[in-house]
Amino acid sequence: MTAVFEHSPWIEERADGRPSSGDRHADLMAVVHEADIDEKLALIRAHPELAGKAAIDGTLTAASAAEQASAGLDRLTPAEFEEFQTLNASYRARFGFPFVICARLNNKAGILSSMRERLGNGREQEIAIAIAQIGEIVRLRLEDGQ
Ligand code: GUN
Repeated sequence: MTAVFEHSPWIEERADGRPSSGDRHADLMAVVHEADIDEKLALIRAHPELAGKAAIDGTLTAASAAEQASAGLDRLTPAEFEEFQTLNASYRARFGFPFVICARLNNKAGILSSMRERLGNGREQEIAIAIAQIGEIVRLRLEDGQ
């Protein structure tokens, strides 16, 4: 069993110190929801930008590389790549954390339109959406037996 949260082993560790409900996903997400705001932000910031620097450098976790590839993000045209860089930068400048969406449940066009749309949200709303999307990422990783 490898880590199911990006660079955030504290969530599984904290869940392991509590009684299990029998629903691992629910137990993990309870830890996330009860975490303080700095911990929530650290969790969101542990995620790489889509088609971002880590993807170019080849420093993504294996799970993240596979997730990005499943949405077609490893096969971008130069124009699409530019659009990701521009939207990633605008999003980070506005909210102070990277854009997170469950890449495996979305395709390239859907991700780009969500980025544009979510740029109009408020910060609290975006924190809640990012945490919910991380819940989906983790649900799929648990289903894969990771
Ligand atoms: N950053 C934004 N979306 C994702 C995703 O689905 N997986 C990972 N690992 N990082 C992301």
